[in-house]
Amino acid sequence: MKVLMVCLGNICRSPMAEGILRKKIQVNNLDVVTDSCGTGNWHVGQKPDDRAIKTMKSKGIDITDLRARQFSESDFNQFDMIYCMDETNYNDILALAKTHEQKSRVKMILNEINPKANQSVPDPYFGGDDGFENVYQLLDIATDKFLEKYV
Ligand code: 4NP
Repeated sequence: MKVLMVCLGNICRSPMAEGILRKKIQVNNLDVVTDSCGTGNWHVGQKPDDRAIKTMKSKGIDITDLRARQFSESDFNQFDMIYCMDETNYNDILALAKTHEQKSRVKMILNEINPKANQSVPDPYFGGDDGFENVYQLLDIATDKFLEKYV
């Protein structure tokens, strides 16, 4: 199973999602691969936001090795699940999908917690540290639900 986490900049929410899932994969020795990317290209090549790094470090997870990249249409061939952090990311990725089968792999990650509610992971970029803690808590639950359901 290969899982791609998608947000806007790939420096806050999706690298946190990747780091949280990667840790669970490592600890439980699971046959899952994860990566993350952004729909935008502004931060390509950059490390995660310092606040994301700090919040993750406080949970015992190091994401300093991650570097931002932009979503590519070739990702549709690489990943079984494409988890979008918010509704804008979801609509942007769906617009790039060419087939029904590709579209079927694009999901809102918080629907793993509240199915069909189409809730977004709030963008913490313009806020304070508490926004990053909230992102962590949501993604910790969502990744647990994903693992229970699919792995
Ligand atoms: P992310 O957060 O999509 O969770 O990585 C953002 C990062 C950068 C910007 C917006 C959101 N930005 O406007 O540069």
